[in-house]
This record gives sequence, C-alpha cells and structure tokens, in this order.
Amino acid sequence: MAEAPQIPDEAETRARWGGFAWTTENAVKAKEIIGRYPAGRQASASLPLLDLAQRQVGAETKTQGWLPVPVIEFVARELDMPYMRVFEVVTFYTMFNLVPVGRYHVQVCGTTPCMLRGSDDVLAACKNHGLAKGKTTPDGLFTLTEVECLGACTNAPMVQINDDNYEDLDYDSMTAILEALARGETPKPGPQIDRQTSAPEGGPTTLKEMVSENHDYRGEWA
Ligand code: FES
Repeated sequence: MAEAPQIPDEAETRARWGGFAWTTENAVKAKEIIGRYPAGRQASASLPLLDLAQRQVGAETKTQGWLPVPVIEFVARELDMPYMRVFEVVTFYTMFNLVPVGRYHVQVCGTTPCMLRGSDDVLAACKNHGLAKGKTTPDGLFTLTEVECLGACTNAPMVQINDDNYEDLDYDSMTAILEALARGETPKPGPQIDRQTSAPEGGPTTLKEMVSENHDYRGEWA
C-alpha cells in the first residue's frame, strides 16, 4: 500500500495557489454541476468539483493535476462547506492527488488479483524505467503510485495512467507503454492482449452468433 503523502509546505503552496479561481469555461461547468443537486444538497457536488479543480491545476501546470490546500479551500467556499468535510473527500479517493504529480500518473494496482497475476512484473518494469513509488521522475514525466483495486480485476494485472486503463499487462507490455508515453505517443488503452474488453482471449467461446448481429437462440433450446 502506498505511504501517506507529505502535504507540501503551506506558505509556498499559498503563494502559488492562494488566488485560485475557475477559468471562464470551468466557472460555467461548475455552475452546471452544482445545479444538478437540490437546494441544500450542494455538498454532493464536492466530488465533481474537486475533479474539475484538479484538472484545471493540471492544465495550468501541464501535469495530471493535484489539489493544493488553497484549491480545496476554494472548492469548500464554492459549496459553503467546512474545509474539513471537503478534505475528507480528497483523502478518501486515490483519484485526488495531495502532492504534485508528473505529466503521467502511473497508478499500479497491487491488490490480490493483480498481485497474483503479475503486478510485481509491472512494478519491476516501472522501476527499470526509472520510476519509484511515491516519486516523480526528474524530467517530470512520470509519477508512480501503488493503489488498491481499480475494479478491472478480470483483466489483471492493470494500471491506470491518467484517464486510461491498461490491462492484461506483463513486463514487456508495461515497458512498451512507458516507452511510448516517453516518446509522446498515446498507447492503445484497454487489454494489451488479443481480447475485446473482458471477453476470452482470442474471441468469445459462447453466444458466438451474437458477435456480429442480434441472434435469436430460442429455437435451439431443448
Ligand atoms: S485487483 Fe487489480 S483491478 Fe482489482
């Protein structure tokens, strides 16, 4: 399990982010998000607003984004919530970063199904590419975090990199993905073996007639 991050120095963070406000475009989005919830239930918007804020910080820093304390305070003010209630949301979800991250946030699942299917090899590929857990590479390109189950166990082992999942990994495919990202390419997300989503490798083994069109099986039932 990843270690708890050390939240960056307060004075330095405030100097950089104390004046955080929505961009014009995000102000419109924030208003629309808050409007989805009934009056008095705006706290429900904390999750999407924090995500929006993290993405704005990411755009401004050309990274995957993080949530400095003054930005969390800004979101709390937007929703008329105590800071601590919003901070609780930030610390609960690993999708929110409490410290700066690189251009690509490589989140390796280390929970049991992924561990049994080879997450150690995935981590070894990261390590041999210069990534270290909880650290950002000196070129600012990659941050490596080990996370708990990301809900794609059928395709274990997997990693999430920014908004994409890469699945059915091994040492070589993980290395290829990191090399492609370093070259500025966008590797194909999803399974890295020959299968559609979580269907069997090589194609379906049942309901084959349904692959290309709707098929009525009822006449074949005994
Ligand atoms: S255990 Fe890795 S995605 Fe569920």
